Amino acid sequence: MSASLNQPHPTSKAWMPDSWRSFPVRQMPTYPDQDAVKTVEGRLSSYPPLVFAGEVRRLRAQLAKAAKGEAFVLQGGACAESFGEFKADVVRDTFRVLLQMAVVLTFGAKVPVIKLGRMAGQFAKPRSSDTETQGDVTLPSYRGDIINGPEFTAEARIPDPLRMETGYFQSTGIQNLLRAFSRGGYANLHEVHRWNLGFVERSPLADRYRVMAERIGETLSFMQACGIDAASAPQVDETEFYTSHEALLLPYEQALTRVDSTSGEWYDCSAHFVWIGDRTRQPDGAHVEFLRGVRNPIGIKVGPTTTIEDLEQLLEILNPQDEAGRITLISRMGAEKLGNHLPQLMRAVKGTGRTVTWLTDPMHGNTISTSHKVKTRSFDAIMKEIKGFFDVSKAEGVHAGGVHLEMTGQNVTECVGGANCLTEDDLGSRYETFCDPRLNAEQSLEIAFLLAEELTGKR
Ligand code: PEP
Ligand code: CO
Repeated sequence: MSASLNQPHPTSKAWMPDSWRSFPVRQMPTYPDQDAVKTVEGRLSSYPPLVFAGEVRRLRAQLAKAAKGEAFVLQGGACAESFGEFKADVVRDTFRVLLQMAVVLTFGAKVPVIKLGRMAGQFAKPRSSDTETQGDVTLPSYRGDIINGPEFTAEARIPDPLRMETGYFQSTGIQNLLRAFSRGGYANLHEVHRWNLGFVERSPLADRYRVMAERIGETLSFMQACGIDAASAPQVDETEFYTSHEALLLPYEQALTRVDSTSGEWYDCSAHFVWIGDRTRQPDGAHVEFLRGVRNPIGIKVGPTTTIEDLEQLLEILNPQDEAGRITLISRMGAEKLGNHLPQLMRAVKGTGRTVTWLTDPMHGNTISTSHKVKTRSFDAIMKEIKGFFDVSKAEGVHAGGVHLEMTGQNVTECVGGANCLTEDDLGSRYETFCDPRLNAEQSLEIAFLLAEELTGKR
């Protein structure tokens, strides 16, 4: 079952939270003042963790179920959280849409839905180019609010280590709100269903979605009649909600890495789940070295350039004991390329006998530029990649474990299409992302309804 490793890997050495520092590292900012970086790292290392190792283990066990088709993952949130959007409404609205989607998906998939926000720490961005040019001015690229500022000025683009501390404190505030919403009655199933009915009635596709909404309503009424209510079953009134982000800015991740006193193991306590992006997944690189030593569940983005050899090597390095729930592979091929790449990769991973949880990220392979040079994604391409992923999974005998979306609870106009037929000309009205285009609240809910239809047919 072990992957064939052609060369000895440097990971035979002992791991420490800072051992990544002697590996080649990509996408890392060059801070002008190293002493200032050390000072901030020191303070961050002394601050309380954002998550507790017991929660992380619980998520890992749930992800292990998703690998077997006994749970379904809904991972979603901003491409990049921004410091300017540190507001209760922004957090609440994204959380609410994720809950609404989860109810619909639970009904479609007939298994528990694991809710995983790209929230409370999704601040650092990998960039395709180190610089950005506007007119005849070239400046360093914006790398996410935890590193530098989005404004196109030389000053804003200088990496500032104090931003790591701001990112930490904002994450604590967001995490706190998420915990409050999850447990304080906001997540009541009947309430979430009422929000969904409101969405269905407003939708141009109301007739299509109403059938499922009514069936969910009947199920909830039946449960209530049987005495399953908030008083007897906490699941009616509460939910589990986990946080996740790309583990890109390694000094920050290292500073939040702690030994769990109950198990003696290392955990990256910046979030429950962290992933490696498509640009930093080199098996001999610093990001892989860092993640190999922490016990969190880990995502690996799998793109059209991922080779079978790399993937096998990554699984060997990051999950040598083949623990279920440890590795989630997030396929981000693009609707057109998926058929040429995903089947071989799924087959190869299956051939190793290893356990992984497969998700589809139908966003990152489907980014296009409009004639006005604005980045967008089309609802149809996103849906096409999701369907393609389910078809390939079925053909390969692999459980389709869930979806990974860039979305928001705000009514932005960043992706084209959907039932309200957003066009390229509409994009100007509320285009707010500093990074990739996100599905708005209605488009996200549509995805959930369409996907639930798909799942109902497949399970
Ligand atoms: C992301 O998830 O925001 C991202 C940058 O994805 P990828 O690494 O797959 O391009
Ligand atoms: Co993105």
